[in-house]
Amino acid sequence: MWNWFILMLILFCMFYSSKSSSVRHFPSDFMWGVGSSAYQIEGGWNADDKGESIWDYLTHNRPDKIDDHTNGDITADSYHQWRRDVQMVRELHVSTYRFSLSWPRILPNGYMNHVSNAGIKYYSNLIDELLKYNITPMVTIFHWDLPQRLQELGGWTNPEIIPLFKDYARLVLELFGDRVKTWTTINEPWHICEHGYDVEYNAPSYNFPGIPAYLCGHNLLKAHAEVVHMYRAEFQQRQGGRIGITVDTSWQEPRNRNNPDDLEASERTMQFYLGWFAHPIFSRHGNYPKVMIERIRNLSKQQGFGERSRLPEFTTEEIHRIRGTSDFFGINSYTSFLVSPNDHNNSAGFPIPSYNHDVGVVFDQNGVDWPSSGSEWLRVDPKGMYHLLKWIHREYNAPMIIITENGVSDRGGLADYARVDYYNLYLSAVLDAIEDGVNVRGYISWSLMDSYEWKAGYREKFGLYHVDFNSPQRTRTPKISARVYANICKTNAIDWSYRPELNEQQLQAAARLPAESVARTNSAATLSWSCTLSLLLLLLLARHC
Ligand code: NOJ
Repeated sequence: MWNWFILMLILFCMFYSSKSSSVRHFPSDFMWGVGSSAYQIEGGWNADDKGESIWDYLTHNRPDKIDDHTNGDITADSYHQWRRDVQMVRELHVSTYRFSLSWPRILPNGYMNHVSNAGIKYYSNLIDELLKYNITPMVTIFHWDLPQRLQELGGWTNPEIIPLFKDYARLVLELFGDRVKTWTTINEPWHICEHGYDVEYNAPSYNFPGIPAYLCGHNLLKAHAEVVHMYRAEFQQRQGGRIGITVDTSWQEPRNRNNPDDLEASERTMQFYLGWFAHPIFSRHGNYPKVMIERIRNLSKQQGFGERSRLPEFTTEEIHRIRGTSDFFGINSYTSFLVSPNDHNNSAGFPIPSYNHDVGVVFDQNGVDWPSSGSEWLRVDPKGMYHLLKWIHREYNAPMIIITENGVSDRGGLADYARVDYYNLYLSAVLDAIEDGVNVRGYISWSLMDSYEWKAGYREKFGLYHVDFNSPQRTRTPKISARVYANICKTNAIDWSYRPELNEQQLQAAARLPAESVARTNSAATLSWSCTLSLLLLLLLARHC
């Protein structure tokens, strides 16, 4: 009896260590990258002739809307430190650097009548420097920093944005397309529209729930499609690149998997969140998800909006024009939420009308043992990444997926073992999905360095590199996670046993930095030691029984 018990324990321990401590390889052609975005790292907010963006405007005029009242005026100063950035990208052994172009740096007022030579030169230099070291630039044309002048016309809620975005995109495709072979049009449409217009979270920080977010989404999808058609007609053949979009979502875990209502709530939320932008582009028939069209139409009617739904309708021609306009499925995802139907008298604290009320679920991250992070919204649930990838695979007929952002925040420090754990866990989940047939072809870690985290200011750090925001050069120092991620990219594998301690360079840097940077316990190393010790003890016991 004891023998059996001990044998089972040993088998369990062996299984555990094979899952968590072994080396797991990625497919040989897997693409590794690291990412950043213009407003978050560049600074130089009014350098040369750069125009004002909606983030400049918001942070200067309403600092109270930013958690620490800061702005991205200088941030990591990549406008001057871009050579060091490229050096860091090289140190990470990635093949791809994903960054974005700032529309108002290139077209200061958003229009073609004023093109900034300084802006063009900045990006041209950056691209050349990357290519010099065989690093592939992956360029996002729009990552949230709209020219303020265009916001004054209504921003993404005004259909005029479609030709304007097309003009801007044509210019950058012409200027950089000889050297840039992977483009994404727009980063995270859901955040742009829902967090920008429905709730006051992102610039332009409207609080106008239930209406403009849907107008924003409508114009954004059309603008994206027009740019892709233009690229395919005018550039793709001659330049030989690819173009797509980066959508975002969190995994929506049913609160209770045995409850059909929770399963339905999860599916509905996936459709409202990811499906809002992915369904028109990637699904077989295009258009918004059926559940979205029907719910918003019915609720609009009940709310006295008459026959016209708050969700605008596409014409048949538009549906066809948008469908299929992405050469890959770019997905950003960080966390999961628990969802169940909204049965709180149909409001659950959400305004009526509002996007959240339209979805009709309640969501939170309570009652689960998902570890926390430096961001309130971000809990660690690697299984959620697995479920999400499987969902995309099923829902959109096995598209080619690139994870364009994934990573975790903390509140600072070089000994960021929690980030190391996060990467190992999430990458294991990605590998599980690949082994189960999901076509994931690349992974881009977020983020190259600590940067301006939008509404959270400088409090939440996502970087593989620490940035000393008090030093004039914005000195960058690799964290432990940078060394681990470099090892992952170099070996094309995750290796749970690789958990370096702070080296001399890091210790010296840590000595200059505030106390937050002092090493914490190397928790997984401790764990693996204790596991080995227990195993030895068990073996000894087994021999005695
Ligand atoms: C997604 C956004 O694209 C990026 O700008 C942001 O920093 C990360 N999420 C983390 O919140």
